[in-house]
Amino acid sequence: MGLDTCDDAGIYRIQDDLALIQTVDFFTPVVDDPYSFGQIAAANALSDIYAMGGNPLTAMNIICFPIKRMDISVLQEILKGGLDKLKEAETLLVGGHSVEDEELKYGLSVTGTIHPDHILTNKGARVGDQLILTKPIGTGIINTAIKGNLVKEDLIHEVTAIMASLNRTAAQELKAFDIHACTDVTGFGLLGHACEMIEGKEMGLVIYPSRVPFIREVLNFARMGIVPAGTHRNRDFRNEYLLGLEKIEPAIVDILFDPQTSGGLLIAVGKEQSEDLGTKLVEKGLKNASLIGEFVPEPKGKILIESLG
Ligand code: CO
Ligand code: CO
Ligand code: CO
Repeated sequence: MGLDTCDDAGIYRIQDDLALIQTVDFFTPVVDDPYSFGQIAAANALSDIYAMGGNPLTAMNIICFPIKRMDISVLQEILKGGLDKLKEAETLLVGGHSVEDEELKYGLSVTGTIHPDHILTNKGARVGDQLILTKPIGTGIINTAIKGNLVKEDLIHEVTAIMASLNRTAAQELKAFDIHACTDVTGFGLLGHACEMIEGKEMGLVIYPSRVPFIREVLNFARMGIVPAGTHRNRDFRNEYLLGLEKIEPAIVDILFDPQTSGGLLIAVGKEQSEDLGTKLVEKGLKNASLIGEFVPEPKGKILIESLG
C-alpha cells in the first residue's frame, strides 16, 4: 500500500500476520518554544502510524539546522521535546541525520508494525457510518494570530498542548470497536481530509459544523480575517465536492478548511457503536471528541454541509 491510495503511511507485508508501517514528517517551527516544537513534531510524525491502526516501534530524527546563526541549545531543546514524546509513545529513538540549512526544520521518520488484516485506511467508510473527530480544530488560525501577537499566554499554552497531544489514546480505544476508516486531520484541513474519505466512492458525507469542536477564540480570529493562506488553497482545491457552504458563515467555512498541525483522528465507525465510542473517548480524556457527521447514500462523492438550526 503506497502513494496511490493517498493514505497516511506506507505499508509492506513481511509475512501473513505482520507488516511494516513507515512514515516521515518534518516541518519548520510552528511555535516559538523549541521544546514544544520538538514535542509537536514527534506527535505529528507518530500520528500517521496511529491513524492506520499501527503500533510505532522506532523513530529517527530528521534535522535541518542553521548552526551559524542559531545557538545549539535550541536544537538540544527541540530534540529533548521529541524524545520525551517518543517515550510517552513507548517508541525507541534509534538514530537520525542532520544537515546545515538556512531554515530550521525538524521531524521524524517512524517505523511500526501492523497486522495486514487490521489496516485502517481513509477509504473504508460505509453508508450509515458516523464520523467522529477527536481533537478541536483551528490550530492554523491560532498560530497565525500568535504571529500577530494577538493571543494571550493561556491560549498559547492551550493550543500547544492540543498539538503536542498524541493520537495514541484514541488509536488504542479504536481497537475494541468496529472501525471502517480512519485518517488524521493535517494540512488539508477538516473538510479536505473528510473529502478524501468519500472521493471516488459511491456515497456522500453529511457534516454538521455546529458539532465540530473549535479551539477557544478561533471563531473570533476567523471573523477578523486572521486565517493562514493554506485555508483558501484548501477550499479552492475541494470546492466542487462541497454542497451547502453558502448557508454557513464564511468564518466557519474558513475554520473547516484551516490547515491543522498534528490534528486529531477522523474516524468512520458503525452507527450502532458510534455513541459508545464517543463516550469512551471522552472518558479517556479526549474531552472534545465529537460525532460530527454521517456517511449517506446521496449525494454521491460530495460533502453536504448541514446546519442544525
Ligand atoms: Co496523516
Ligand atoms: Co504525514
Ligand atoms: Co547520516
